[in-house]
Amino acid sequence: MKEKRTSKRIAVVTGASSGIGYTFARALDQILHTTDEIWLIARSKERLEELSGQLRMKSRIIPMDLTSSADITSFEQLLQKELPSIRILINAAGLGFMGDFMGVEQHFQEETILCNCVGLTRMTRICLPYMAWNARIIQLASSAAFLPQPDFAVYAASKAYVLSLSTALGEELRGRGIYVTSVCPGPVSTPFFDKAEVFGKRLAIKNYVMVTPERVVYQALRDSKKRKRMSVCGVPMRAFYALTKLVPERFLLFCMRILKVAR
Ligand SMILES: NC(=O)c1ccc[n+]([C@@H]2O[C@H](COP(=O)([O-])OP(=O)(O)OC[C@H]3O[C@@H](n4cnc5c(N)ncnc54)[C@H](OP(=O)(O)O)[C@@H]3O)[C@@H](O)[C@H]2O)c1
Repeated sequence: MKEKRTSKRIAVVTGASSGIGYTFARALDQILHTTDEIWLIARSKERLEELSGQLRMKSRIIPMDLTSSADITSFEQLLQKELPSIRILINAAGLGFMGDFMGVEQHFQEETILCNCVGLTRMTRICLPYMAWNARIIQLASSAAFLPQPDFAVYAASKAYVLSLSTALGEELRGRGIYVTSVCPGPVSTPFFDKAEVFGKRLAIKNYVMVTPERVVYQALRDSKKRKRMSVCGVPMRAFYALTKLVPERFLLFCMRILKVAR
């Protein structure tokens, strides 16, 4: 696949209105010196405008809903019109709802799958023809991708999808010099939990391993630069990842049951 004709060099950030995506946009604004524009994507136009006003770089606000097929098609048409060279794509938009499987309304489960899996896949697919040698893709997965999570089942499954997809895609794209990094943080102090905890509450242990979005983003950008396929922030999450590779899943799920009872 050949890169489509290039004009301006851009960075694309989804989920830029809040939390990790917002922090990525601010960090890119500081470190990208040969990129012409940063394209900011989320539904909340006002928050994107606010962010845009704070950036040094020229930015373009693209209010869109990643669960809407029509919105994604409009974005594809915008790329076809502008023919930019995408230097970095950050797929940070995402959401999840805690609570037992039947306790979370179907609509919210489907929104999770549509945004975290379908939206991310389509954005990646649409952007790839505009990416060339040394371009990078950063996908927000989660440490929830490492182990199925009772009471957060759909979210964890969606993130396992992101991790698997991105690892495979990274292998496919290596020959084209495009590098894919899956970011797998544990709990991060963002507004994510305001929505996530509508139907159920997090395990108390998550409060002790919470990190800032700045730490996650700093680590992710470093790991992406080193062309790492995965970025895991902090010792507790790296230890958790190792555990999921070494210890039988059944035992880890048993431990999670104990933690839930002790909550
Ligand atoms: N916070 C954590 O503990 C944590 C841990 C691991 C992984 N993650 C992952 O990190 C990513 C960012 O989460 P966060 O913590 O920054 O959460 P956040 O503060 O709630 O931000 C989520 C972002 O996604 C956007 N978004 C949600 N649904 C969307 C849709 N349908 N269309 C377009 N944009 C949409 C939101 O913008 P609008 O509402 O304006 O559309 C917002 O900008 C997510 O993929 C999340 O799963 C978070």
